Amino acid sequence: MSAGLPLAGLRAVVTAGGTREPIDAVRYISNRSSGRMGTALAAALLEAGAEVALITAAPPPPPAAGLGVTEVETAEEMGRAVWAALDTADLLLMAAAVSDYRPRHAHHRKLKKSDEGMTLELVPTVDILASLAEHPRRARLLLVGFAAETDDLLANAAEKLRRKGLDLVVLNDVGVPGVGMGAADNAITVLDRDGVVLTVERAPKLEVARRLVALLVARLPARRPGPAG
Ligand code: CTP
Repeated sequence: MSAGLPLAGLRAVVTAGGTREPIDAVRYISNRSSGRMGTALAAALLEAGAEVALITAAPPPPPAAGLGVTEVETAEEMGRAVWAALDTADLLLMAAAVSDYRPRHAHHRKLKKSDEGMTLELVPTVDILASLAEHPRRARLLLVGFAAETDDLLANAAEKLRRKGLDLVVLNDVGVPGVGMGAADNAITVLDRDGVVLTVERAPKLEVARRLVALLVARLPARRPGPAG
């Protein structure tokens, strides 16, 4: 069905949404991510003929041919799902806004309020992208990370690319109202180890996703369907 399309035979993993880290039975900490950029990337990859495993902490999109969806809640669950999905994938687009911290204790019952203040102890979550340096198939994967920044945009994005061992990093300026996290539009700058390779001005997220996928098509070696491994 997808033969002839540029990414036919290629398997992509996309993450989306903001993870939710439980405080108690009804409360969590999270962020403003809507999941729309990851969902748009999944759609653009499907249009280009790829098979897509979408791992999402946001509401899932409607079913589509070639799309598999795994719903997750926490950073830990997302990390496990990403590691497993990459056993048979060629490409990861890590568009999710993964919580950097979680409450040390997740209470199973609802905490009752008191007149005193309360202190929440937070501990770091696993950095999913950085952990993939240890994945057995790392050398065969194209790893694309996202950098949500408000300051020193290019320098911070380039530092993330190096620190997390990425092939590409997609920079979002999350300090501009109306674009990026939680918004319908996005504007991105993509960097590789040598510097900026693509700039997309403000546009609806599906259009931005299509431009990014066109870059990936140019960067991925031609693939043929075949046994995973
Ligand atoms: N990421 C991840 N695991 C985490 C946190 C982030 O895999 N625990 C991924 C995100 O999905 C994104 C990239 O790392 O693709 C950068 O995320 P970002 O929030 O911009 O950076 P952080 O590493 O969280 O650093 P900081 O919040 O200090 O900017």
